[in-house]
Amino acid sequence: MTFVPALHPLPSGLVNLDDHEAHARSLLDDNAWAYFAGGAADELTLAANRQAWNRLQLWPRVLTKVAGGHTRTTLLGHPLACPLLVAPMALQTMAHADGELAMAYAAAALGAGMVLSTHASQPLEPIAQAVQDMPGAGPLWFQLYLQPDREFTRAQVQRAEAAGYQALVLTVDAPVNGVRDRERRVQFRPPAGVSAVNLQGMRTAPSVALSHDQSALFDALLLHAPSWEDLAWLRAITRLPIVLKGILHPDDARLALEHGADGIIVSNHGGRTLDTVPPTAQMLERVVDVARNSAAPHTPVLVDGGIRRGTDVLKALALGADAVLVGRPALWGLANAGAAGAAHVLRLLRDELEAAMALTGCRTLADITSSVLLRHNTAR
Ligand code: FNR
Ligand code: LAC
Repeated sequence: MTFVPALHPLPSGLVNLDDHEAHARSLLDDNAWAYFAGGAADELTLAANRQAWNRLQLWPRVLTKVAGGHTRTTLLGHPLACPLLVAPMALQTMAHADGELAMAYAAAALGAGMVLSTHASQPLEPIAQAVQDMPGAGPLWFQLYLQPDREFTRAQVQRAEAAGYQALVLTVDAPVNGVRDRERRVQFRPPAGVSAVNLQGMRTAPSVALSHDQSALFDALLLHAPSWEDLAWLRAITRLPIVLKGILHPDDARLALEHGADGIIVSNHGGRTLDTVPPTAQMLERVVDVARNSAAPHTPVLVDGGIRRGTDVLKALALGADAVLVGRPALWGLANAGAAGAAHVLRLLRDELEAAMALTGCRTLADITSSVLLRHNTAR
């Protein structure tokens, strides 16, 4: 089946990702907005993610020959036109009826990658089918949560493999939901017709009778929470590369590599799980250090959280990332004009990245090193 996205006109006057956000706010109701835009608790990490990219300064170079430059790269053996992937995000038909299909189509059209959430609101198979024959499509990965019903997870992995997803992104930073005040204020609920359809049929953990001194979290919900041993289990049941998403601590990066992870995503879940954790821009280099000094020094390290400008992408690559994931802005684009809107967001980022590369004297992604950043440890 080929997916042909309905042509939704792009609203005029949207020249950057913040414009997309403001326009999306005017289209979405309070319920969807609280879920999409919100973060945990006081949203300090949500804000810090952006501030940390903003604080880094670029140090331009002039009269460098950059003609013939490009943003092409490869990830886990798969080519992509630019080092961008759409982050896994749940329930995208709540942003636009075309949902994840349109998001995947937009990413493929731009040669960017797409990570489909376990909590996607459309079945995973037609999404893979829609983009697999598109020329120049970037990587298509499937994000996984290890469910208490491990047999369900095994079946889900098999479905993703059969459908043609090229890697599994195991999210490890959200065994419990964040305390999300914004969602609680509006009593967030997915609207009728929007649900995590790929989780249908999953058995829920049997309920536990708790005594008054037991915790609903530690003595019930977390009884089946995954641990490092489960990574070995996942490794054994799939031939796909496994990318661990939600690493902030270098010691966890070390453990991830020791347990066979093929890639790492430095992420704090867009500030949605634990508030007051450090921004990803601040932790990235330490995780990169661990990977580069490991037995698998070419392990890809990706980062997300607060990427809103091409200069942010350049800074992430300068700190050692191989690529970045874009979260909320892709949803804003989707809300604004379906596939065309999401593609516009990715295009803006790519164009801004190209301009930033040219102005810092970088012809290719390989030229982007820490020397494009003005910092005490690099100042000469
Ligand atoms: C997410 N994120 C997420 N992550 C994941 O692994 N599985 C998921 O289902 C979701 N769902 C989800 C929904 C929504 C509405 C948002 C905003 C985020 C986290 C996401 O993959 C990513 O880590 C952050 O969104 C990146 O931060 P920015 O770019 O949104 O600032
Ligand atoms: C979220 C979950 C679905 O961030 O990962 O909302």
